[in-house]
Amino acid sequence: MSSIEIRPLQPFGAEIRGIDLDTDHDAATIAAIRRAWAEHGVILFRGQRLDESDIVRFSARFGKLEIHVRREYLSRDHPELLLVSNVHDNGRPVGILGDHEVGWHHDQSYLPRPALGSLLYAVTLPAGGGNTCFADLAGAYEALPPAMKRRLEGLRAVHSYAYFNGTWSEPTSDAQARATPDVTHPVVRTHPETGRKALYVDPGMTPRICDLPEDESRALLDELFAWCTRPEFVYEHRWRPGDALMWDNASTMHRRGEFDPREQRLMKRTTILPPAERAVPV
Ligand code: OGA
Ligand code: MN
Repeated sequence: MSSIEIRPLQPFGAEIRGIDLDTDHDAATIAAIRRAWAEHGVILFRGQRLDESDIVRFSARFGKLEIHVRREYLSRDHPELLLVSNVHDNGRPVGILGDHEVGWHHDQSYLPRPALGSLLYAVTLPAGGGNTCFADLAGAYEALPPAMKRRLEGLRAVHSYAYFNGTWSEPTSDAQARATPDVTHPVVRTHPETGRKALYVDPGMTPRICDLPEDESRALLDELFAWCTRPEFVYEHRWRPGDALMWDNASTMHRRGEFDPREQRLMKRTTILPPAERAVPV
């Protein structure tokens, strides 16, 4: 087993040192990383030199990888890789999300079996801007007053990719829209591996809570969003080339800041699905 060093980030997350992700690792090392990922919500590996097959091979140690519905932004050689970029090739963007702000969201929460995690690898970065912030929705849930926890019990919310795309992302084709209908999930998600509870709503993907009048749903969502984006729950990541950042989509949400459109940013992402035997959030 590699002797990895786990150093907490503030106010949550952890940097893992002493490991190169482009080599093979034994099951004990992967298990230690998996534990750190679930425990800290966000884990950072700096100074990596990964080609596309390295990113896919390492990510696949943690679960089945999703092929994103936005086929036009996938790597040609590795469809498990989604390019996140404002770089253009022959007049067409090679990646998704451009150079604008991207509001708070979970990745692939609109799937019936929502994503467990994502890994984002930084290839090319602008001189400034484009930071990615993460909110600790497990910590935010645990710190809620007991009366609010009781109020949330049994509630479900709508997760809508169409809602997200209307504000923060490029429009989908009709076929892509049909492939990603709205779904509902519990407002409090139980982590399929740790059993820890976390808020599972976000401003980008969640238009409403089911079975509540619209004004009540809006007020409750706004109250929860104001709570979980307080600075004590938010880690802001300033990227360096060679950073590989892996986050837990069951216990965190993220947003990205804008950057200068004259600069280039190229990131490569995998999306990790939950284990099949515990497919549905409970
Ligand atoms: C993502 C995403 C943030 C970023 O890839 O899921 O939200 O920093 N990207 O580009
Ligand atoms: Mn995202």
